[in-house]
Amino acid sequence: MPSKNHFFGKDIVSIRDFSKDDLEFIFDSTDKVQQLKPEEKSELGKGRTLGYIFYEPSTRTRMSFEAAMASLGGSSIGIFDSKFSSIEKGESLADTIRIIDLYSDVIVLRHSRDGSSRYAAELSSNPIINAGSGSEEHPTQAMLDLYTIFKEKGRIDNLNVGIVGDLKYGRTVYSLLYGLKNYNVNVYLVSPPSLAIRKESIFEYEAIMNIMHYNYLDDVIPHLDVLYVTRIQKERFPDIQEYEKVKGIYRIDEKLLDIAKTDLSIMHPLPRLDEISHKIDNTKNAIYFKQAAYGKELRSALLALILNENPF
Ligand code: NCD
Repeated sequence: MPSKNHFFGKDIVSIRDFSKDDLEFIFDSTDKVQQLKPEEKSELGKGRTLGYIFYEPSTRTRMSFEAAMASLGGSSIGIFDSKFSSIEKGESLADTIRIIDLYSDVIVLRHSRDGSSRYAAELSSNPIINAGSGSEEHPTQAMLDLYTIFKEKGRIDNLNVGIVGDLKYGRTVYSLLYGLKNYNVNVYLVSPPSLAIRKESIFEYEAIMNIMHYNYLDDVIPHLDVLYVTRIQKERFPDIQEYEKVKGIYRIDEKLLDIAKTDLSIMHPLPRLDEISHKIDNTKNAIYFKQAAYGKELRSALLALILNENPF
C-alpha cells in the first residue's frame, strides 16, 4: 500500500483514474479519520472552504460533504437550487465554475451532463470532486460502496455481488463496476432488457471481469453475498411511457430473503422508492443506512487528503 498521499490537490472525476492501491489508501485513511480526536480532526480543514454546485437534487451527497467539511473544521458555501442563483439568469457552467473557484479551496459538482466534471476540472484551479455527472459516473459513491463492502464483509475479493435495477441510467452502477474491476468478484447484473447495462460503457471491463446478465432476481438471489439495489431513474427517461412500463419491477421483500443466504448484505445508494420493502430495514441484511453513514467518513478522509499533503 502506498504511504504517500497522491490525492493532495487532485481532482476526483472518475473512479477509473484510481488503482487498487489508491482505493486501499483511501479506505485506510477513512479508518484513520474515524480514530482522530475531534480537536485533531478539526485541524485538517481549518480555514478552508468547500464550494458546491448541484444542478440536480441531492440529499446525502451534499449533506455528507458539508458534514465532513464541518468535522474537519472547515466551512461550506454553495448552490443547491439553481433557481436562486445566476444559473437561472443563463450563466454558463464555465462561468459558474470560474466564480466558485475564486471563493473555495475544493469544489463539489453535480450536473446532468456526462463529462461535466472533466470539463469543470479543466477550468478550475482548485480540485473538482465529481458528485454525479449525468448517467456516467458518481466516483465518491462507489468509493463509499466499496468501503462499506470491505467493512461489512471483511473483504471484497471472492464475493458474489448482484446489482439490480436501472443499469442503463444509474451512474452509481458504472462507478461501482469500474471500482470492482480491481477485485476478484463475480458480478450478477439484473435488469429488464430495456434497462440493461450500456455495453459500450463497460466494453473493456467485460473482457477482464466475470459479469453475468439476468432479468429475474429469483434466479440470482441464492448465490449472492451482496445485493446492490438501485432506483429506476425516472428523470433520465426520454419517454415517460417507457418508465411506466418498468417502474416497480423489482421489489426486495421478506419473501425474497427466504431464498437468500442468511448473511446477504443489501445495499442501496438511496434514495429508495418502492424497490426495498420497509420491512427489510430492521433486518441484519439491510446495510443501506450504515452505507450512508460511511459516506460521511469516507468523504472526510478524501477532503483531508485533497486539502493536506500529510494529513495522517
Ligand atoms: C444517487 C445519484 O445521485 O446517482 N444518489 C446518491 O448520490 N446517493 C442515486 C440515485 O439518485 O438514484
